[in-house]
Amino acid sequence: MFITFEGQDGSGKSSIIKKLKSFLEKEGINFVLTREPGSPYSKESKQIRDILLKKENVLPPLTEALLFAADRRMHLNKIIIPALNQNKVVICDRYIDSSLVYQGFGRNIGIDKVKIINEIVTEGKYPDLTIFLDVSLKNSLKRIDSREAQDRFEITNKNFKKRVDEGYKKVVKMFPNRFKVIDSNQKEELVFEEVIKIIKKFLKI
Ligand code: TYD
Repeated sequence: MFITFEGQDGSGKSSIIKKLKSFLEKEGINFVLTREPGSPYSKESKQIRDILLKKENVLPPLTEALLFAADRRMHLNKIIIPALNQNKVVICDRYIDSSLVYQGFGRNIGIDKVKIINEIVTEGKYPDLTIFLDVSLKNSLKRIDSREAQDRFEITNKNFKKRVDEGYKKVVKMFPNRFKVIDSNQKEELVFEEVIKIIKKFLKI
């Protein structure tokens, strides 16, 4: 099973995934937890992540999209496909939908172009389930504003974040069978409860 998490920066994704990791460990599930860009299992991926996220780097939008796609291809080859072949559950923090949204809408490349690039690199490998932590733009901005900008995406302007917000809504509608949407404006405990409910049902545990 291939499960991905998506959400705006500030959606609470990182802490929910951390809690999910402890839950799956307790349940004795055979799983791999990874992320994009820059899987912790691949030093080459970490190098691509550095290029993509360093604040001082300037990348044309299509170059950015291709670097995310290059990382995704390597990630599939080295980590995701081998783990799935060993019947492991793969949990991935961000995947193809982040590119459709951030590059397609955020960077204005257009979703069609980004989708074509990504269908080539993934050979059509979509997740079985995608959990979208849906935080309002207002709350997302509030949560991000309280932190110091750490990477190239956190220094983007409000319009970029608005396009990402609208982009996620469109992408969720494009794949209604795969997406489960959770209201991430609620308290973290409630968000986590909903995540667990979905995961338990999906993994039949
Ligand atoms: P990261 O520090 O991992 O942020 P987060 O904790 O929010 O996931 O940085 C990842 C950033 O890269 C995030 O702002 C979204 C962006 N991104 C894209 O623009 N396109 C992509 O395909 C992926 C995977 C991530």
